Amino acid sequence: MTYRVALLPGDGVGPEVVAEARKAVDALGISIDWTELPWGSAYFHEHGRMMPEDGLDTLQSHDAVLLGAIGDPSVPDHVALWGVTLAIRQRLDLWANLRPCRLLPGIPGPLAGRGPGDVDMLFVRENTEGEYAGAGGRAHQGFAGEVALETSVFTRAGVERVVRHAFEVARSRRALLTSATKSNASRYGYVLWDEVVEEVASDFPEIRVERVLVDALAARLVRDPGSLDVVVASNLFADILTDLAAAIQGGMGMAASANIAPGSAEKPGVFEPVHGSAPDIAGRGIANPCGAIWSASLMLDHLGEFEAARMLMGALEETCHAGPRTQDVGGVASTAEVGDAVAERVARG
Ligand code: NAI
Ligand code: MG
Repeated sequence: MTYRVALLPGDGVGPEVVAEARKAVDALGISIDWTELPWGSAYFHEHGRMMPEDGLDTLQSHDAVLLGAIGDPSVPDHVALWGVTLAIRQRLDLWANLRPCRLLPGIPGPLAGRGPGDVDMLFVRENTEGEYAGAGGRAHQGFAGEVALETSVFTRAGVERVVRHAFEVARSRRALLTSATKSNASRYGYVLWDEVVEEVASDFPEIRVERVLVDALAARLVRDPGSLDVVVASNLFADILTDLAAAIQGGMGMAASANIAPGSAEKPGVFEPVHGSAPDIAGRGIANPCGAIWSASLMLDHLGEFEAARMLMGALEETCHAGPRTQDVGGVASTAEVGDAVAERVARG
């Protein structure tokens, strides 16, 4: 079987890390037909939009999408993000964003006295509504009385599907689900969220579920990450929590993610590192490709290539342990040297 995978390197360090992910996947010997799509900020300067009008149709004709990052100082961030990343998540209705957070052996973690055994979480981020629904507007623009409204949208169906999925993945882990909201200050959306969690919980008596306010959870992530297993949260909250989680697992370069619509096999999932385009280090060949390579492993899992996914993850873990490593995780290696090492370990089996 040949898989059709769209490669969307994007901006900044995106192309640098995606090249290494592709190299590592190719070393597995799986038959993949890659389509490289040159969308992003350079495309915007040429065509006035971040991707072609029929871009989503193009993606739909693929089995999966491997994405780098989108964003460049020359394009307003909200234009860039809504032009590609958020457009894809919303229009393809990729409603679950899975973000594993593990501190791999060999990677220095920032928390004193905590090691790899203490950091193993899975974040399930609601990916199409909440604070990033795109509902809102501005009035009296540029005047002293200017008003900007950013409306959070929570639907029962939208909350229920992601919460249910989080319960399901908790089954195959340590059976603890933490739901993060802010239902003391926000009285509508998050109160609905809490109610849905309680209702769905009755279908999963074997899962221990706890409701935590997101601010307290941020502190707990730092003080006691080992007390967390699966965390389900809204679009904004999980966005923020997973940058914190990325720091706990060694930095932005380490974190991976999968944007998926569980149960809809015909939809291509989008797999991308959690980090952005990192313009501060772009073009220097020093970006850490581990998050992108890890994302490629999530992609293989999603395609049903479980053994290949496991091999790729194994090669990545071995490389983190034995080196080479990039500067951000205590090494001296270049992006390509790390990618080469993973690919070589993959090829050796
Ligand atoms: P960022 O994640 O790009 O960078 C934050 C910090 O992490 C920087 O110091 C950067 O050097 C470091 N970093 C990121 N990736 C790294 C890697 N692979 N290896 C080593 N260090 C790495 O976030 P920032 O600076 O807030 O955003 C930069 C641009 O990326 C903006 O235009 C933003 O909108 C965009 N962005 C795009 C995302 C996407 O396409 N999914 C996600 C987040 C941001
Ligand atoms: Mg983010």
